[in-house]
Amino acid sequence: MHYRSLGRTGIPVSTVAMGTWQSFDVRGERAVQHVRQLVTEALRCGVNLFDTAPMYGQAEEVLGTVLRGRREGVLIATKVLQSDAASARRQIEQSFRKLQTDVIDLMQIHNMAGWQQVTPVLEDYKARGTLRWLGITDYRTGMFPEMMRAMRTGVFDTIQIPYNLGDREAERAILPLAAELNLGVLVMTPLCPIFDRSRLLRAVGRHDMSFLEAYGIRTAGQALLAYAAANPHVSSLLPATSRLERVAENTAVGALPRLPPDIVRRLEALL
Ligand SMILES: NC(=O)c1ccc[n+]([C@@H]2O[C@H](COP(=O)([O-])OP(=O)(O)OC[C@H]3O[C@@H](n4cnc5c(N)ncnc54)[C@H](OP(=O)(O)O)[C@@H]3O)[C@@H](O)[C@H]2O)c1
Repeated sequence: MHYRSLGRTGIPVSTVAMGTWQSFDVRGERAVQHVRQLVTEALRCGVNLFDTAPMYGQAEEVLGTVLRGRREGVLIATKVLQSDAASARRQIEQSFRKLQTDVIDLMQIHNMAGWQQVTPVLEDYKARGTLRWLGITDYRTGMFPEMMRAMRTGVFDTIQIPYNLGDREAERAILPLAAELNLGVLVMTPLCPIFDRSRLLRAVGRHDMSFLEAYGIRTAGQALLAYAAANPHVSSLLPATSRLERVAENTAVGALPRLPPDIVRRLEALL
């Protein structure tokens, strides 16, 4: 696994990390045991960052449970989605409890919700050392101008945005700004546009991908991950999976050399 600096935090993050939306939202001992296996495999493959949120049902709690006793060297990113300061504080306190930790590595304002009201709360926790870094996320590219305003405040260390072969809006302005400000960039939905889960994988899978074999890429999923990872402004990808065998498939991309520009262009020409 290759590690990249998470922007100005200077912390090395695995090029391929792991998202927890849906796949970690489970109940019952058997299902939690399966998530434990996913996490064990991810750690074995070099993943050092897990992204979760209170909005992902049981995911925060399950992540806290399966990481108990093996938190060393593991970064937890979670989120807050509230429109006022008092509610944000309450939700953050719950996240500490669910994640079974006194320190959360990255707290992100989820979908920019109430960001002007919630930011002072986050800064307060950061000053006390219980939130190490702060970030903002949004799945809506239409919110990028607002996100860029937030980035320019200097408060945030990271952004989390959609970026994949089927949605390259981020390349236009927000990724260059993140690079200029030296902010970490986490990529949500590197495989599947949020409201059309299988379209992109199907579209890529229709093509002859043998030209990618020389670069160690064997599947459509790997091709999509390698594409997003080729962007020099990206710190880490957050693919999610509920299938054990896909953890190794996805994380293998993090150990490959960056795709050269001509191969990146060739992938773009596929769609
Ligand atoms: N607003 C926000 O802040 C926001 C929004 C969306 C997502 N996120 C974060 O980003 C993470 C990733 O987003 P996501 O889960 O929506 O999308 P994703 O990781 O791009 O796609 C997940 C889907 O792809 C499938 N998949 C995984 N690996 C595959 C492979 N190698 N080949 C084919 N299919 C594969 C999974 O199915 P299987 O389970 O069957 O493998 C699942 O249906 C989330 O978990 C969350 O942490 C944040």
